[in-house]
Amino acid sequence: MSLLTVQNLEVVYNDVVLVLKGLSLNVEEGSITALLGANGAGKSTTLKAISGLLAGEDGKATSGTITYKDTQLSGSSPEKTVRQGIFQVMEGRRIFEDLTVEETLKCGAYTQPASKYAGNLEKVYSYFPRLLERRTQ
Ligand SMILES: Nc1ncnc2c1ncn2[C@@H]1O[C@H](COP(=O)(O)OP(=O)(O)O)[C@@H](O)[C@H]1O
Ligand SMILES: [Mg+2]
Repeated sequence: MSLLTVQNLEVVYNDVVLVLKGLSLNVEEGSITALLGANGAGKSTTLKAISGLLAGEDGKATSGTITYKDTQLSGSSPEKTVRQGIFQVMEGRRIFEDLTVEETLKCGAYTQPASKYAGNLEKVYSYFPRLLERRTQ
């Protein structure tokens, strides 16, 4: 079953720079999909379009559709999209340098109901015991 479908996506930066033209891709449920391309090919732009993060970059999806689990994401806000289960892990090991380990984990739990937080935190610490040792660093 197709989980994420991008059809004929077109993205323009600053109303003039056409970066993506007719991009289509399909992610099947239970699979791993890799998007490969040279530097500047438009990989990050594709992910930003899916997450709805182009506006902050003066970019715009000028045509195409993005569908996740039968829901149209095109035009949806990033807040809404992340709650539907689409999120990005930044490249280059970016971290919040002013936050402790535990505060950082709490940020990752942003979309979860507060009632699940304690149990999920315990689970993360059981997977990665070193984080528990360093929770206040
Ligand atoms: N905010 C922006 N404003 C204008 N052009 C941009 C912006 N971000 C990326 N681009 C241009 O869009 C193209 C694709 O960039 P990008 O999606 O970052 O490529 P990749 O992630 O594949 O290296 C590049 O030519 C880049 O210069
Ligand atoms: Mg990139």
